[in-house]
Amino acid sequence: MARRKIALIGGGQIGGTLAHLLAQRELGDVVLFDVVKDLPQGKMLDIFEAGPVDGYDCRLLGSNDPEDIRGAELIVVTAGLPRKPGMSRDDLITVNSKIIAGVSELIRDKAPDAIVILLTNPLDAMVTLCRKITGFPRNRIMGMAGVLDSGRFAAFIAAELGVSVQDVHALVLGGHGDEMVPLVRFANVSGIPVSVLLEQKFGTERAGEIMNELVDRTRRAGGEIVGLMKNSAFISPAFSALAMAEAVLCDRKRVLPVCALLEGEYGVDGYFVGVPCIVGASGIEKIIELELNDEERGMFEESVSHVKSLVDGLNL
Ligand code: APR
Repeated sequence: MARRKIALIGGGQIGGTLAHLLAQRELGDVVLFDVVKDLPQGKMLDIFEAGPVDGYDCRLLGSNDPEDIRGAELIVVTAGLPRKPGMSRDDLITVNSKIIAGVSELIRDKAPDAIVILLTNPLDAMVTLCRKITGFPRNRIMGMAGVLDSGRFAAFIAAELGVSVQDVHALVLGGHGDEMVPLVRFANVSGIPVSVLLEQKFGTERAGEIMNELVDRTRRAGGEIVGLMKNSAFISPAFSALAMAEAVLCDRKRVLPVCALLEGEYGVDGYFVGVPCIVGASGIEKIIELELNDEERGMFEESVSHVKSLVDGLNL
C-alpha cells in the first residue's frame, strides 16, 4: 500500500518546518510546493539528508510544478505573506487574497478530493475565499488558528501556575484576531478549574487580575513574537497544523478548535469561525456547540462581527 500523499502549498517558514515534522513522524509522502525557484527543492533536500541520521524514509519532493500536487489527499496551505512589525493580520488581505485565489484554483483542479487545512492570514477571510473557489464541502476545508491560540493560552497558564503544560487544557474560540475569545471558564489543569488554582496561589483579588492578563497576552501573542523576531511565528503554527493533519491522517477523532464554516451553529450562518470540532479521517466530523454564558456570547459575537466585516469586504 502506497503512503498517503500530503502536499504543502507554500514552502516558507511554516511550510518548511511542517515538512520536517511530517517527515519525522512518517505521516506520508510529502510534496513541498512554492513559487520561488529552487527554494522548496533545497528545503526538501536538507530534510532528506537528515533521514539517514534520524531514521525516517518517506518520499520527499520539493517542487515549483503545480502538477506535483495532483492527487494529494491532504493539503496544507501557508502560501502568502506573513506580517511584519506594526502590521495586523488584516493588513495582509489584499496581497494574500490574490495568492489564495490562485492556490485555490490549483487545489480545485489538481486535488478535488483533498482535505484542506489553511493557515494564511487573515485566516478567517482566506479560508472563506478558498471555500468559495474550491466549492469543497465544509468537512473538507478548515482553518488553523484555534489550536495555536489555545496552545498559547495553555502555555501562559502553565507558566503562571508553575505546572506542566501537559496537564493544562484551554480553549480559544472566535476569529483569529485580537478579538479572539479565550474561554476562561473552560480552562483547567487536570480537570481542576484554573480560576481555583490561581485563587489558591495568589488570593481571590489578584487571581482575577492575573486571569485577565493571561487572556490579554493570548490575544496579542502573535504580535508579541513579531515584535521580538521581526517576523511572524513559525514553530508553534507548524506544530498546530501538524496536530490537525495528524488528526485527519490517523483518524484520531481529536477535539480541536477549528476555523469551520458555520451553518446555523452558534447562531452564525455562512461564516468561518473558530469553534470546537471533532477532527478525523473525514476532516471536520462534528461541530460541537457549547452553551456560552452572556459574557462569553458577547465576546464571541464581537469577534464574529469583526470576521463578518473583513469577509464582506472581499465581496465574494
Ligand atoms: N504558491 C505557492 N507558494 C507561494 C505563493 C503561491 N502562489 N505565493 C507565495 N508563496 C510562498 C512564498 O514564496 C513563501 O515561500 O509562500 C511562502 C510563505 O512563507 P513565509 O513568507 O516564510 O511565511 P510563513 O511564516 O510561512 O507564513 C505563511 O501563514 O500564518 C500565516 O501569517 C502567516 O500568511 C502567513 C502564512
